[in-house]
Amino acid sequence: MDLLHRVLFTAFGTLTLFYVVVKISLGYWKRRGILHEKPKFLWGNIKGVVGGKRHVLDALQTIYDTHKGQAPFVGCYALLKPFVMVLDLELVHNILVSDEGYFTSRGLYNNVSNEPLSGNLLQLDGHKWRSLHAKSVTVFTSSNLHKLMPRLLQVSNIFGSRIGEQKLQQLNVSQLVDSYNIEVIGLLGFGLTGDQVEFRKMSRSYWNNFSLWRAYLALELPLLARLVQYTSYDELATNYFYNLVHAQLYQQRLRDRQPLQNFLQLFSAVDDALSDAQIAAQAFGFILAGLEPLNATLSFCLYELALQPDLQDRVRSEIQQLLHQHDGQLTADSLKQLKYTKQVLNETLRLHTPYPFLLRRATKEFELAKSVFVIARGNNLIIPVAAIHRDPSIYPDPLRFDPDRFEAAAVKARPAMSFLPFGQGLRGCIAMQLAEQQLLIGLVALLQHHKYAPCAETQIPLQYDNRKLLLMPKTDIQLSVEYVDT
Ligand code: HEM
Repeated sequence: MDLLHRVLFTAFGTLTLFYVVVKISLGYWKRRGILHEKPKFLWGNIKGVVGGKRHVLDALQTIYDTHKGQAPFVGCYALLKPFVMVLDLELVHNILVSDEGYFTSRGLYNNVSNEPLSGNLLQLDGHKWRSLHAKSVTVFTSSNLHKLMPRLLQVSNIFGSRIGEQKLQQLNVSQLVDSYNIEVIGLLGFGLTGDQVEFRKMSRSYWNNFSLWRAYLALELPLLARLVQYTSYDELATNYFYNLVHAQLYQQRLRDRQPLQNFLQLFSAVDDALSDAQIAAQAFGFILAGLEPLNATLSFCLYELALQPDLQDRVRSEIQQLLHQHDGQLTADSLKQLKYTKQVLNETLRLHTPYPFLLRRATKEFELAKSVFVIARGNNLIIPVAAIHRDPSIYPDPLRFDPDRFEAAAVKARPAMSFLPFGQGLRGCIAMQLAEQQLLIGLVALLQHHKYAPCAETQIPLQYDNRKLLLMPKTDIQLSVEYVDT
């Protein structure tokens, strides 16, 4: 056989093999006889998502809207990977809460030996996650959050005064809230006081070498990815965070018996101590899991309030009244009185759900009660939270921003599992209480003395960034801001 024939033969063989692998992968649900969304060759059901033409929320919502009510779950594919999309809220409850022991894995890639910061709670599974989770719940307690509250208020007070007293100015609200959240994370998560220029830079650059394709391959073939030492994050940034935590822990240990000031102290004090590398991974978790959802929530919230000034005035007067009653001082208890402000935050999290879906992996076969359906061991599950939050049978006129949906009676009337911005159960957001506190205190600082309104640069209607899996604005949110003396 001459060279040309050999090349043609090899190319043909490779293409045939590729075709067969794709066909077999995309035939998974058909072979199991399960209702599924028909996949497109190679793309599965996320055509357009990988190239940034549409947001993953849109792809998931299409599947949810098409099949809801037909079965407890429907099969679908992210490229070649089969997923169970859960449609029924009772099944959501089983998976997240009542039968969570079957679904304690999330199935994300991690490689702790080569990339120690990937050993955070979000990415770990199995016994490593279990042991770390048991220790971490002793850190994120209400009593610790109470003790750290003065530090949080310290940042928010300085932040509020920094917005300025100009009569009218145009502000990049996305950058404004980012500076607040980074400062809080720097102080509480990493014990950083003073200059945070480098920290800010690194917090923005750790995704620098991210490629969706490579991340997908690492998810599909984790053993191979570990073999070739695939890393998810920018090396410069992760080295910076790692070394920063080591230096901070060293300094803290020299100052023995100091009052509680940050989470590094709490993580170092847990029984059956964590190693410094494990503590560094948990501190990194603040940035990885927390920064972007906090930024998105605060900026979406201001955007919605700018469009509806009457709601904004109502929030501002609630805040001013509370501060007046408590001599301008906030406490964890007094924050609970900000009922309407909390409703506004919840409505923001419903309409612009930062994590539009939750992931689980079945670690054991799960038989659905009173049905013939089985979720097989190793199946990946997706809970389409944002689609549930926009389901008109649960939230009528779902695209309207209406905080009254979160009045106590309305919440009680809705089914369980219909509001899941922080997930739920064992693998739910471990920092939910901290995040809610940070958001509420941030809103107090932002709204106490300032009014927000759309300006020429405000993008209306708002668009999401299709290249992100989280729900983020496509471009920075800009608003006009006016100082109001009270
Ligand atoms: C608006 C802010 C936030 C939102 C909306 C949010 C939402 C979420 C969601 C949806 C999950 C997955 C839950 C599940 O699978 O059931 C999660 C997990 C997690 N979040 Fe948050 N989060 C926020 C802020 C934070 C912050 C500030 C931290 C800082 C430490 C944090 C740390 C984590 C961690 C470590 C996990 C993984 C927990 C585990 O798997 O055991 N989050 N978060």
